[in-house]
Amino acid sequence: MALVPGKQILEEAKKGGYGVGAYNVNNMEQIQAIMDAAKETKSPVIIQASRGALKYSNFTYLGYLMKAAVIENPEIPVAMHLDHGNSLESAVKAIDLGFSSVMIDGSLMEDGKTASTYEYNVKVTRSVVEYAHARGVSVEAEIGTLGGIEDGVGSGKVHLTDPKEAKKFVDETGVDSLAIAIGTSHGAYKFKGAANLAFDVLKEIRSLIDIPIVLHGASSVPKELIEEVNKYGGKMPGATGVPIESLQEAIKLGVSKINVDTDGRLAITAAIRKVFVESPEKFDPRDYLGPARTALTNLIASKMKAFKTAGHAADYAPKTLEDMKREYTLQ
Ligand code: G3H
Ligand code: 13P
Ligand code: ZN
Repeated sequence: MALVPGKQILEEAKKGGYGVGAYNVNNMEQIQAIMDAAKETKSPVIIQASRGALKYSNFTYLGYLMKAAVIENPEIPVAMHLDHGNSLESAVKAIDLGFSSVMIDGSLMEDGKTASTYEYNVKVTRSVVEYAHARGVSVEAEIGTLGGIEDGVGSGKVHLTDPKEAKKFVDETGVDSLAIAIGTSHGAYKFKGAANLAFDVLKEIRSLIDIPIVLHGASSVPKELIEEVNKYGGKMPGATGVPIESLQEAIKLGVSKINVDTDGRLAITAAIRKVFVESPEKFDPRDYLGPARTALTNLIASKMKAFKTAGHAADYAPKTLEDMKREYTLQ
């Protein structure tokens, strides 16, 4: 069984110059698909649950399904990560469930919508770092705000990360990884025209801070998937995402963790819509959730190859949270 601290997976990725996808999960089929893709491509992986997803599953259901992924796949380094925690309380809940990594998104207030002050962000982040590190759990924080609003995550206003502020923030909080805003946004409608990321900002941040960098809102919203969704009765005109080539460039420039939720949702939706339209007589959930799981496995395996995560599962001996606890204590 290889539950690994998020910090170890990301530091190995940073050292190796590859990216690791962090894939959002809500249910069993998504978790199985991600793990099947990791097994097929021999990739370390981060499975992440948002606080909304945890709430939807009454916490324990999803927590235990994620643990099953770890138990079933002893050869794969897996981090269980809380995505967009909004308070110390949300981090404590995830850590109690056995997560090895938590995000505290103090770039927004607890409502997940209103932009916060720098001082608030430092304060809430430090409280999570103190609690998590004492238990060997890694912490991701965010500075700057993404555009887009996804089910309550996001202010809807873009505020690109200020590199100098990012450096100060890392020094003042002791976080293990940092999510930055360079023009991406959550959801399926990321750009009006061509995708445009602020690589100059990324370069400057990379030159100032030494911890792994995280990119949220990194779904590519593949045209083929949108066409498939629309062909089978969906309505998603004008959906766009971050091209794979831009993500590969971001990895080269120092991004280690790439957050993907929307693309998984699209793959699942397209597959289910197809079954409903082509086989309207079917009503066994396995007849549509099964194809959805297969579609998601294929999508994620292709991302693992594109981010160059593939082949790195056996590169290192996994650390335990006890190992991390000792390391944090010595720092
Ligand atoms: O960043 C947001 C993720 O896509 C999670 O979304 O809060 O709807 O689960 P959610
Ligand atoms: P997407 O909406 O681009 O998939 O981003 C997901 C994300 O950032 C989860 O934290
Ligand atoms: Zn996010």
